[in-house]
Amino acid sequence: MPTSPPSWCSALLGLTYIASSLSLPATALPNIARQDAPAECAPVPPASQFPAWSDLPLQTTMPDPFLPLAYTTTAGEGGSSAGDIMAGKGKNRIQTPEEWYRCRQPEILQMLQEYQYGYYPDPTLETVTATRSGNTLTIEVSAGGKTGRFAATLSLPSTATADAPAPVVINIGGMASQAYLQAGVAVVGFDYTRVAADSNVQTGAFWDLYKGRDIGVLTAWAWGFHRVLDGLTSAVPEIDPLRSGVTGCSRLGKGALAAGLFDARVALTMPMSSGVQGLGPYRYHGLSGQDETLENSKEGAGWWSSSGLGRFVNHAENLPYDAHTIAAALAPRALVIDQGTGDAFTNSKGTAVIVYPAAKVVYDWLGVGDRIAMSVRGGGHCDMSGFDSVLPFVTKILQNQTITKNYDDLGTYGEPMTTAYPWATAVPQPA
Ligand SMILES: *[C@@H]1O[C@H](CO)[C@@H](O)[C@H](O)[C@H]1NC(C)=O
Repeated sequence: MPTSPPSWCSALLGLTYIASSLSLPATALPNIARQDAPAECAPVPPASQFPAWSDLPLQTTMPDPFLPLAYTTTAGEGGSSAGDIMAGKGKNRIQTPEEWYRCRQPEILQMLQEYQYGYYPDPTLETVTATRSGNTLTIEVSAGGKTGRFAATLSLPSTATADAPAPVVINIGGMASQAYLQAGVAVVGFDYTRVAADSNVQTGAFWDLYKGRDIGVLTAWAWGFHRVLDGLTSAVPEIDPLRSGVTGCSRLGKGALAAGLFDARVALTMPMSSGVQGLGPYRYHGLSGQDETLENSKEGAGWWSSSGLGRFVNHAENLPYDAHTIAAALAPRALVIDQGTGDAFTNSKGTAVIVYPAAKVVYDWLGVGDRIAMSVRGGGHCDMSGFDSVLPFVTKILQNQTITKNYDDLGTYGEPMTTAYPWATAVPQPA
């Protein structure tokens, strides 16, 4: 039984308690622990009542993914010292994979929407219509009496038929397609600028529906991926929508990561050279590249995220998560990360030696360690060779092929920087 959570969630707890006492027998009240009942989830605050940066402990190392937000606090009985929190000795950590999937993963998704992405629009309130003409798919989405339209372009491998549909990689910004088509993987692209302009003007199909909402453009692009997947499902029988990957590079890689995060249909997330707000760490930002940070990314392109992230400017080390938490939230679905050692812009080294191995600790703990991969290649930012470098892993995930390439090999970066995620030596051991 968790000890007392901090004061900001007492109102919520009270409501839960009242609701329970109205409808349930006394033995089911939440303050009575039963041996055989699953552990209660830590309370998650309602939207826009999340802790401010100043309520959260300063963490100079990558936050413990197993510690619920309610207990990421130095206050009160449920809290711990900042040192214990960083070391994986915080109170009330997640104990089992079952608890992770039932409690912590949904909490991370909500937390990320609150602090970074903005709230993803409810897809059940949308109507999606796809019209195919040759290799062009026109997608029309209506919600709340408004309509937005954009198009996707299909490239199908010669082997794809309605009886033998091909897996698909959906991309924004283009990719090296030839080897994919030859391997029997369809490639579908869409003009992301028609979904949401890369600026604060709020034009494009997403904003035709949701103009004025406090949502980042990365989330709008993610929404574009998902609506393309809807269209492929309804109008392109030569594609198998259950075997899909999503990709893009740099800012578009940040968008691809969001696409994987917010739709469980995505089987494989493939962020290329994605950097900060992708899989570049907010902490340890200066290990390589030109020192992309929360501050300079928010200043240069504030529209990528919601206003939530702006509240952590100059306080990135108070964030209760980092890029490895985002990666871990994708499990058990697959993730392959591309970074080039010659990337002058993003922190390739930080992604390779910290974010990847820290996320892999969680994947391993969940029993799906073979579903996360790090591709360290030569070449610079968004070098097209990255697509060839990740292709074997794509065929493993989307086509069940046996591969020999070792995606734990960090190349010239050497070994994981384990001091950056000290909680990894104290992963929860289920009783
Ligand atoms: C994947 O391949 C393995 C052998 O390589 C086989 O045992 C398994 O049934 C295959 N799974 C699917 C879903 O085809």
